[in-house]
Amino acid sequence: MTRIEAIIRPWKLEEVKQALDHPWVTGLTVSEVKGHGRQRGHPVIFRGSEYEVDVVPKLKIEVVVPTPLVPRILADLERSLRTGQIGDGKLFVTPVDEAIRIRTGERGEEAL
Ligand SMILES: Nc1ncnc2c1ncn2[C@@H]1O[C@H](COP(=O)(O)OP(=O)(O)OP(=O)(O)O)[C@@H](O)[C@H]1O
Ligand SMILES: [Mg+2]
Repeated sequence: MTRIEAIIRPWKLEEVKQALDHPWVTGLTVSEVKGHGRQRGHPVIFRGSEYEVDVVPKLKIEVVVPTPLVPRILADLERSLRTGQIGDGKLFVTPVDEAIRIRTGERGEEAL
């Protein structure tokens, strides 16, 4: 099993949900997060003064999926998220040792 974490622009959520609409993607987690990438702060004007905003609101989407599905999901996510502008976000991929579906006690992929 593999966990794919996508840090995305908030307005991309619906497109990402469509990209993840696959029978093996049985669940997902969405979190409101703030962060920065390479550009760090960008200046904003608020009430006539210029401020540095060092973190920008993003959404973090997490899915745990069977590992053979990962290349396909990454390709779908990249396609739906790339605008070519700075701040398109990041995908992180990590192995998952175990999953437990608490209600049934199922383990591993059966638990997804
Ligand atoms: N190395 C990292 N570690 C953890 N989170 C990161 C990392 N890089 C980016 N992020 C998260 O992803 C969000 C979007 O990053 P962003 O797309 O701006 O990356 P970037 O490297 O600056 O690329 P770009 O030049 O396209 O903007 C950040 O706000 C932050 O939450
Ligand atoms: Mg950036």
